[in-house]
Amino acid sequence: MYKESQSQSYSVHLKIAHWLIVAILPFNIVIGYWMKHAQLTMSTMYSMIQWHKWIGMTVFVIMAYRICAKILTKPPESLFFRHPLEKILKIVSHLGLYILVFSVIFSGYLMSCYGGYPVNFLGINWAISVKTNPVYTDYMRVVHFYSVVSFLVLLSIHIIGYVTYLFRYKTNIINRMI
Ligand code: HEM
Ligand code: HEM
Repeated sequence: MYKESQSQSYSVHLKIAHWLIVAILPFNIVIGYWMKHAQLTMSTMYSMIQWHKWIGMTVFVIMAYRICAKILTKPPESLFFRHPLEKILKIVSHLGLYILVFSVIFSGYLMSCYGGYPVNFLGINWAISVKTNPVYTDYMRVVHFYSVVSFLVLLSIHIIGYVTYLFRYKTNIINRMI
C-alpha cells in the first residue's frame, strides 16, 4: 500500500475517502433540496432535517479523515501537463472543492446554532450555545445555498477536467483513484 502511494496512485485511505464522499454528498444535496422545496408534513420535514444534519456531520468526519490521510500519506507522481495553466486549474479546483465542502458544512452547522436548533450526531448535540440571531441564521442560509451551488459548478469542472485529460493525453487518471 505504501509503495503504491509513492508511485502511480493515491493512498488507499484517500481513495476510500474520495469515493465515500462521492457516494454520500450528492445524496445530501438531494435531501436538502427536497426537504426545502417539497410539500412535507411537519414530522416528515423534522426527521428529514435530522437526517440531513446527520449525513452532513458524517461528511465532515470523512473530510477530516481525508485531510489526515493527505497529510500523512505520500502523494502520487504529479500529472503531466503540456501547459502550466492546466496544472494551476487542477490545483485550484481541488483546493476549491475542499474549501467549498467545508463551507457547506460549517454554514449549515452555524445556521442551526444561530437558529437555536440542535445538531445531533452520534447521540450528542454538537451545537454550540450562542445567542439566537435570525440575521446570522439568514446569512448562513445564503452562504449554505451558494456554497452548494459553487460546489456543483466546481464539481462539473472537476469531471470535465477528468474527461478532457482522457482525450487530450489518452490517459485514464481514474486509475490513480481506484
Ligand atoms: C454535505 C454537506 C451538506 C450539503 C451538501 C447540504 C446541502 C443542502 C441543500 C442543497 C439545502 C437546500 C438549500 C436551499 O434550497 O435553499 C440544505 C438546507 C439545509 N441544510 Fe444542508 N447541507 C449539508 C450539510 C448540512 C449540515 C452539516 C447542516 C447542519 C448541521 C445543514 C443544515 C441545513 C438546514 C437547517 C437546511 C434548511 C435551510 C432552510 O431552512 O432554509 N446542512 N442543505
Ligand atoms: C462529490 C464529488 C467529488 C469531490 C468532492 C471530489 C474531490 C476531489 C479532490 C479534492 C481530488 C484531489 C485529490 C485530493 O487531494 O484529495 C480529487 C481527485 C480525483 N477525482 Fe474527484 N471528486 C469528486 C467526484 C469525482 C468524480 C465523479 C470523478 C470521476 C470522474 C472523480 C475523479 C477524480 C480523479 C480521477 C482524481 C485524481 C486526479 C489526480 O490524479 O490528480 N472525482 N477529487
